[in-house]
Amino acid sequence: MAANKEKSEPRLFGSTDLSFIENDCWQLLDAAPEDLSSGWRLPVLGTASRQRTIVLRDVDPSARLLIAHTDTRSGKVNQLVREPLASLLFYDTSIRVQLQVTVVTEVQTEGPVADRLWAESDVSSLRGYLAPVAPGTRSDELTVNLPAEFRDELPTRQQLESGRRNFSALIFTVTSIEWLILNRSGNLRALFEYDIAGQVRRSWMAP
Ligand SMILES: Cc1cc2nc3c(=O)[nH]c(=O)nc-3n(C[C@H](O)[C@H](O)[C@H](O)COP(=O)(O)O)c2cc1C
Repeated sequence: MAANKEKSEPRLFGSTDLSFIENDCWQLLDAAPEDLSSGWRLPVLGTASRQRTIVLRDVDPSARLLIAHTDTRSGKVNQLVREPLASLLFYDTSIRVQLQVTVVTEVQTEGPVADRLWAESDVSSLRGYLAPVAPGTRSDELTVNLPAEFRDELPTRQQLESGRRNFSALIFTVTSIEWLILNRSGNLRALFEYDIAGQVRRSWMAP
């Protein structure tokens, strides 16, 4: 018989006050890029016809920004340029909280955010930008899509430079966050909506 693996009660965000919960969401999002154990570090980005996992690289709670990076040649860039309205889905099993986030996306290939992200990221997370062909291109052979010399070895910072042209920052401005916490004594759900001026409307919802 399976052992009784009772889970501990989830973090209740310390309060049932909506502004406290909203603030805690942003604090946890802000910590996620540096926290390898956070489920919120790996959200799912949804565009019209497709979803994919990405890494959350940076967060600016005061400007309501979530930031990632991607290959400018990838299918998602095409979709996001055509339709900047997108969604990000977060779930962290340890706190049992899901966030359904709606965003407006800026794809920034040249600009201060892309430059900073490129400069601050590890070589290991940038090597993929040296891919000789566009990600998603059909291939007759098995391929890792990396120059042969960098398959087993990381490039130097200087060798990486030719990949910069393939690199874009994805700057997501959050327009709403729907929060859902799973709880043995009953789930809880709330909605935080932001207008253009950054004013927030906070509501409880029936889960
Ligand atoms: C754990 C994980 C993290 C990933 N992180 C990124 C990322 O930060 N940026 C990215 O462009 N793709 C990332 N990918 C790959 C994407 O999920 C996707 O396969 C790729 O970007 C192509 O997507 P597209 O064809 O829809 O553009 C990641 C995949 C996994 C499994």
